[in-house]
Amino acid sequence: MPTLPPSPAQDAILRDLTRELAARYPQSAARCDRRRVALLDQTSHAVRWNEPFMVTVARCDGAAIHELGGARLIDYWQGHFANLLGHNPPLVRAALQATLAEGRGLQSGMLHDVEHEFAELLVQRTGTETLRFTTSGALATFYAVLLARGFTGRRAVVKAAGGWHGSQPFALKGVAARAGSFDHLESEGLPGSTQDDVELCGYNDAASLERVFERRGGEVACVILEPWLGAGGGIGATPEFLRAARELSARHGALLIHDEIIAGFRFRAGDLSAMYGIRPDLLVLGKVIGGGMPVAAVCGRRDVMALASRAMRRVKFEGGTYSAHELSLVAGLTMVRHLVGHEAEIYPALARRGATLRDGLERIARELRLPAWISGWPNEVVAGSSVCHVRFGRDRGGRPLRPEETGGPGAAHPVVGEDLLRAALLLEGLSVHNGLGAASTAHGEAELRATLVGYRRALERLVAAGAFAG
Ligand SMILES: Cc1ncc(COP(=O)(O)O)c(C=O)c1O
Repeated sequence: MPTLPPSPAQDAILRDLTRELAARYPQSAARCDRRRVALLDQTSHAVRWNEPFMVTVARCDGAAIHELGGARLIDYWQGHFANLLGHNPPLVRAALQATLAEGRGLQSGMLHDVEHEFAELLVQRTGTETLRFTTSGALATFYAVLLARGFTGRRAVVKAAGGWHGSQPFALKGVAARAGSFDHLESEGLPGSTQDDVELCGYNDAASLERVFERRGGEVACVILEPWLGAGGGIGATPEFLRAARELSARHGALLIHDEIIAGFRFRAGDLSAMYGIRPDLLVLGKVIGGGMPVAAVCGRRDVMALASRAMRRVKFEGGTYSAHELSLVAGLTMVRHLVGHEAEIYPALARRGATLRDGLERIARELRLPAWISGWPNEVVAGSSVCHVRFGRDRGGRPLRPEETGGPGAAHPVVGEDLLRAALLLEGLSVHNGLGAASTAHGEAELRATLVGYRRALERLVAAGAFAG
């Protein structure tokens, strides 16, 4: 979510924090200077860097990252929300070591057993018919949209404003609010048709989806939605919204794609769609199913997936030197088997941690009289959640249901954004994203307590320095 440009007071606070961070983490500070030269903007993924400072990590385990100089920070970013069991879980590491010791794991370019064993487990846990693996979420959503366009012979793709489906042409519209609006392309260089082919609806806004179908019903190839809005706010879909998407797409001959790259296996050992009782035509998985390795998958109806089959070859979802990479699939299969085998303990434990963090942060914000938007709450379908995003408004906070509430037209303007918050929290030994992120099973009582203490101290410091005054 975008934030307002910092005020002069916030700039001054950021400068102070930067000085302190450089003194606290001198080895990381030195790395920043070196990294700038060969590496564009210091990193290959924009969200791994926040102005003005980020720590460099020497190693990670469980709830923690260990910075170059040895400092231990509690981490809620957890590998882009992939690490449900915390960093480097021993069971995945052991499986990888054993695989390499057996003389397999690196890409062979051949068939291997892990691929079909993992596929069988995933289709069984998601109630889908067949799947194909790829290496990133962006590629998976791209292939899913190609399949939908090929299957329907139509052009238009409907997505929610605030929805992030990876960096691919059909998803690079309406991701972040700019000047109070989502209605723009996110990148130059896109095909000229993108502006017209991609239509936006409001998240959790069935009426706006209906209006899109009224205008373009016969042209819509697919609706692509996150049943749990990730980057856009950590917000669960309302059952009415998902039901409307299912019903409208079926009525108008379009396909429904659920992007569960964040949601899949985060709330249960399977897809979130099943909790809502909704079966999309295509389901996209990533993150958690990779067990820390680059794995994504498109699963779904056999008749739709068949367009990419050897028999039909109508949709070119078939390349990928590193697709179904054996070591990656070993990590994923180990992780997913563990989640399935321990589902009854893991998901309630994650939910308890999420509740402790959300409740604690809500209490702190109330006591400090700060208008916080805290999201990640369960709803009538999602019984519990490990997610906790935090944003601050100018004069109003709450529990958002739509990305517009914290980042779009009519939003309470964020005055203390991610950069300032992240810098202040780094000084408290906390690594966050979207104001916090998500708990893993490795976050124990001590970490949760330390998080709330450190968060309060960081906010008190920002309040005292006048950060919220602008
Ligand atoms: C819901 C969702 N879809 C797609 C993607 C893209 O996945 P990747 O970063 O693996 O390309 C992401 C990544 O954050 C995501 O959260």
